[in-house]
Amino acid sequence: MQFFVDTADIDDIRDLAATGLLDGVTTNPSLVAKSGRDFFDVLKDICAVVEGPVSAEVTATDHETMIAQGRKLAAIADNITVKVPLTWEGLKACRALRGDGTMVNVTLCFSATQALLAAKAGATFVSPFVGRLDDIGQDGMQLIQDIRTVYDNYAALDTKVLVASIRHPTHVLQSALIGADVCTVPPDILRKLAQHPLTDKGLAAFLADWQSTGQDI
Ligand code: E4P
Repeated sequence: MQFFVDTADIDDIRDLAATGLLDGVTTNPSLVAKSGRDFFDVLKDICAVVEGPVSAEVTATDHETMIAQGRKLAAIADNITVKVPLTWEGLKACRALRGDGTMVNVTLCFSATQALLAAKAGATFVSPFVGRLDDIGQDGMQLIQDIRTVYDNYAALDTKVLVASIRHPTHVLQSALIGADVCTVPPDILRKLAQHPLTDKGLAAFLADWQSTGQDI
């Protein structure tokens, strides 16, 4: 499974990319607003650090303007993935941008039938939002399982399932068990994946015992 980080914070991206674990980045208008920076400058900086797909979202709601915005974003770097919303207009824009050879991430997916449409429109990635479904009392991970099943039923559908709106490490584990292709994870949760209290406890004990030997390496 691939790991993308869900942020527009270039410092976090640099830190995580240094681990070699980062396969891509997703941004959205809210994350760009949080960064307080110019959208194009942020994307150029991210693409200079990360070789994998970097999602940049259009802000128009009609397909003609989405396509024009998508083309401007795609010109920033070869690894820009244009993000379009899962609407009729977004699906039209997806088809056109894929025709240009641009990678497209169809976002704001909340049902398996929406995901089926995204795949038929040629999406490179579909982004189902698990946390936002959990927030309203629905089962976000069941949606991932349903999309996986639908896509696996038809060999011609090669859209990657990109699990989004991840709120805790268990979402990542469940995604891996289901066989999702990608998880886009907030930086703090990505770091939490490496943590375990028994790792910390065991390391402290090893270091204390080592110090008692008086030896050095
Ligand atoms: C994904 O591409 C989205 O930007 C993101 O995962 C949304 O997460 P949220 O529901 O925590 O805002």
